Amino acid sequence: MYFSLLLFVTIFFSKTCFGKSKPVHYQPEQIHLSFGGPNQMIVTWNTYSPVKESIVEYGIDQMNFQASGSSRILVNSKESPPFIAIQYVHKVVLSGLKPGTKYIYHCGSRWGWSSIFTFTTMPDDINWVTRIALFGDMGNINAQSLSRLQKETVKGMYDAIFHVGDFAYDMQDNGGQTGDEFMRQIQPIAAYLPYMTCPGNHEAFGNFTNYKLRFNMPGDVNSMNMFYSFNIGRAHVISFSTEYYFFIEYGFWQIKNQYDWLIKDLEEANKPANRARYPWIITMAHRPMYCSNNDKDDCTKSESLIRIGIPWFHKFGLEDLFYKYGVDLCFWAHEHSYERLFPIYNRKMYNGSQEKPYTNPKAPVHITTGSAGCQERHDAFHNKTAAWSAFRSLDYGYTKMTIYNESHIYIRQLSDDQGGKIIDKIWLIKEYHGSYEDNTLKFQRFNNEKERLKSPFFNFQNSQMEF
Ligand SMILES: [Fe+2]
Repeated sequence: MYFSLLLFVTIFFSKTCFGKSKPVHYQPEQIHLSFGGPNQMIVTWNTYSPVKESIVEYGIDQMNFQASGSSRILVNSKESPPFIAIQYVHKVVLSGLKPGTKYIYHCGSRWGWSSIFTFTTMPDDINWVTRIALFGDMGNINAQSLSRLQKETVKGMYDAIFHVGDFAYDMQDNGGQTGDEFMRQIQPIAAYLPYMTCPGNHEAFGNFTNYKLRFNMPGDVNSMNMFYSFNIGRAHVISFSTEYYFFIEYGFWQIKNQYDWLIKDLEEANKPANRARYPWIITMAHRPMYCSNNDKDDCTKSESLIRIGIPWFHKFGLEDLFYKYGVDLCFWAHEHSYERLFPIYNRKMYNGSQEKPYTNPKAPVHITTGSAGCQERHDAFHNKTAAWSAFRSLDYGYTKMTIYNESHIYIRQLSDDQGGKIIDKIWLIKEYHGSYEDNTLKFQRFNNEKERLKSPFFNFQNSQMEF
């Protein structure tokens, strides 16, 4: 009798309490965009339950087009208490989009749709003013620049975002919940603007699994977002991994693989027709070649790995490559600070002139912008300023870059600590683009002097162009 009663109670409780179905999670979240190939946009989002469909409905006035994609499984685990979190990262590529057109879209499946978002495709004509916000090292905690970026996105102030590595701190933490919350935080930006990325050291866990699966960048699928390039306005942008040089446990060969790809990409970008169309070559990668911070990071060393290459052999260093192929501008992060350098090669300054260092500089210009805000706070500077360090700040904030045309780029640093004040600004002006070491790659924009004098370089009224 007693045993029967116990059995009944056990069955009753297991039916009413433990037998309940677990909730399903079909609702799309963490929605973000990235550029695909020409006339493409990639839409990425997450669900926690498997959904057999990955669909985006989109259009100009109404959502009368549909594109399908697929999902990949992302697994994160938490040691204490032990649990495994599985989620599904959905990817849909929208192709054949009309240039310069505003689209509306939502994503999901018959089991649940997201809210409706918008994006605008790049114009067909390359001559458009391109506005980009750049920063690195933004975390889930203390993401000080985030709310301002969200507001500026709604105001339509940007065409794209470049996040120069180190996300969430770290995406895999708490069974991936730190990454999930970070991706939710950036959705008010990234669901409207292409959110272009490169990997940082905080993405390294599990051979960069969370970075590789949560983002979808253009280019070769085998690179898994670690390196790729794309064109925007008058610029050819190259994103690559500095982390291959530091996490060699995941394969030393990756350094060479990327280095070979970089040469190929730079050679292609320097073909006269390509450089004429996209004269600016801009790189984004996480760890700088130079910095004047007072930690012991690679960039503080006179022979940094990224700059010179692997010790003793000096192979796969990137500074010579960038000098040879005429890279104009290099964006970095990792140091939680902002630092603008004078044009530099091999630790020597190559200013255009003493009065106008950034007009026709004779070497690449480097900017480190890693102060968007994260739980690790700031990285202080060395007391002594290096001669090549033109401006530095420990304020939280981010960088704004406006590519006006083939000869003029305007760069500003915004301080969030000072209520959005612009604390640094330069015009980078180049009459010609190409190799710094010889003239063979030099892109000649003008057939004769008359043409040259008519060019925007001589007729540009840069005072009108602030925003
Ligand atoms: Fe970093």
